[in-house]
Amino acid sequence: MGVLGSGKGSNFVAIADAIAAGKIPAEIAVVLSDVESAGILAHARDRQIPAQFVPPGKFRTKLEEAAEHAFVAALQNAQVDLIVLAGFMRVLKGDFLRAFAGRIVNIHPSLLPSFPGLEGWKQALDYGVKVAGCTVHFVDAGVDSGAIIGQQTVPVRDHDTAETLHARIHAAEHELYPKCLAALARGEIAVAGRRVIWKNP
Ligand code: GRF
Repeated sequence: MGVLGSGKGSNFVAIADAIAAGKIPAEIAVVLSDVESAGILAHARDRQIPAQFVPPGKFRTKLEEAAEHAFVAALQNAQVDLIVLAGFMRVLKGDFLRAFAGRIVNIHPSLLPSFPGLEGWKQALDYGVKVAGCTVHFVDAGVDSGAIIGQQTVPVRDHDTAETLHARIHAAEHELYPKCLAALARGEIAVAGRRVIWKNP
């Protein structure tokens, strides 16, 4: 696996811990970040996993073409089979998607297709839903729109703030992502259009 992240890296830690515990038959070959100071890089280095900052270029929400090629090259050099987005805050475009078609997964902090985009937990709270959660999905050319692999719900409580709900969703992510990655690594996931079937639920 190659893991991409821009933030603190708590999902990376949950995944790396699950691999170390023998729960996911996989290896993290490389961790890449578009943010030099990202916690995810420090967590990877703590675990002796190759970790690299790749400058993203001049845009704010996507990678410059040269940067996109640098990400693809680093992932190909590490011979990864699966790209795991764990808090990567840029939209991936054509060349990247083509290089790893059908082999990129992401985790999003809402029950998609509700509340795609930024701060899904805050959108859910502001909307007033009573059940929130997180989604692991394949990545396609849209924003948080690819086929859904797994979802986990959490309750929204009357006195929740954006912070308390976010924390509850984050904890659910740390269970859901390793579970989905284990099924993918074991070849137990079949894709039929938008439907993702678990062979061993
Ligand atoms: C998570 O909330 C994830 O759903 C979103 O970015 C956040 C990453 O958190 N895509 P962390 O860096 O794994 O702690």
